[in-house]
Amino acid sequence: MKAFTYAAGRLACEAVPLDTIAAAVGTPCYVYSAGAMRAQLAAYQAAFADRPALFCYAVKANSSLAVIRTLAAAGAGADTVSGGEIERALAAGLPPAKIVFAGIAKTDDEIRFALAQGIMQLNVESVPELLRISAIACELGTSAPVAFRINPDVDAGTHSKISTGRKEDKFGIAHADAPALYGMAASLPGITPVGLHLHIGSQITSIEPFEQAYRRGIALFDEIRAGGVPLRRLDLGGGFGVRYRNEQPITATAFARMVKGLLAGRDLELVFEPGRTLVAEAGCLVASVIFRKESGGRRFLILDAGMNVLIRPALYDAYHEVLPLAEPPANAHLEPMDVVGPICESSDIFGRDRYLPLLESGDRVAFLSAGAYGAVMASDYNSRMSAAEVLVDGDRFAVIKPGRPPRAQFADEVIPPWLAAEVS
Ligand code: LLP
Repeated sequence: MKAFTYAAGRLACEAVPLDTIAAAVGTPCYVYSAGAMRAQLAAYQAAFADRPALFCYAVKANSSLAVIRTLAAAGAGADTVSGGEIERALAAGLPPAKIVFAGIAKTDDEIRFALAQGIMQLNVESVPELLRISAIACELGTSAPVAFRINPDVDAGTHSKISTGRKEDKFGIAHADAPALYGMAASLPGITPVGLHLHIGSQITSIEPFEQAYRRGIALFDEIRAGGVPLRRLDLGGGFGVRYRNEQPITATAFARMVKGLLAGRDLELVFEPGRTLVAEAGCLVASVIFRKESGGRRFLILDAGMNVLIRPALYDAYHEVLPLAEPPANAHLEPMDVVGPICESSDIFGRDRYLPLLESGDRVAFLSAGAYGAVMASDYNSRMSAAEVLVDGDRFAVIKPGRPPRAQFADEVIPPWLAAEVS
């Protein structure tokens, strides 16, 4: 399902014109299609319908409660990386038994919270972490269900800033250390080894790195089971790429065929942690043109959204397609333009030489594939109004997070008493 299409000359999310939303909530704003999220999840669920498999949505991609709830209501679990994300998943209505907790730096408080809630699995990345979990579980009189995150030493061939499965990356435990560590875990009080986890990176659009990493992970899983540790769950992570420009994402069916081929008759529960693929193409960022200007031989389209709202272009040179909300006529004159934000940083550029009509102040544009790692990575840099977030479902829409004006951003700041004397 395509979340954003032109209808009667206006770009719409499902049945709601984006202009209607922008007029109601202002810009910049993020708009998400609930239908597109459900359709993505359903494609994966259908592809694995003949095996026990749980899709734990990586809530880091978009952690709005309404987004988590949309996916939870459609059968997803949650993959979390902090106590805060566990709180969000619970607040969105997920049962603890469908939440996995990953991350290389779990604090004692977070471990205690996760265990007290009774979450499904903690993904462990180091020996010191395993020992802390053991101690805290004993203190609570419980046993922690754990999976080691294995570093399969596979280069996912993706942007180096989002690659995680090479041996020099900070994630996971070395493949060669795994058998001994499972042996140790099985003998520790307060620890129940239940699974094996791996995740090699993000925005991966070819099947080979997955296949290579999964092959290694499955061989290790077999070896550990054969060694007497009764693992029952294989957590194969996320990382499934989406279309930003002209990528060809792996289809859920092709992916499932590959995984099922590798698993043959093995009896185990599968967990996946898809983030981006469930929400990226379901979301866009709507912005308004403030000015158009020409200088240094270039034409700039200056918007009210910048790297404060969507940092991916500045951080990863990411490409997001930009479309005017008013559909340009087939014969429209398009000009190359540098599309930029208002932030006082030269890196605040969404894209150079984008061919667009000569838009005027007040005209609106949408950046596509912005539903993942957009709003969650926003900041208050330069103290501008933050982007509201809106969820569309058919012909309904609702603000799921209001934009925060600068006054609200500094409302809880404190001027210490010794600075109280009047400024003159
Ligand atoms: N599981 C683990 C252990 C992860 O580290 C991640 C993402 C995921 C699952 C979900 O990956 P996904 O299916 O969304 O690719 N901010 C970057 C992406 C960082 C991804 C971090 N880990 C971006 O905007 O491209």
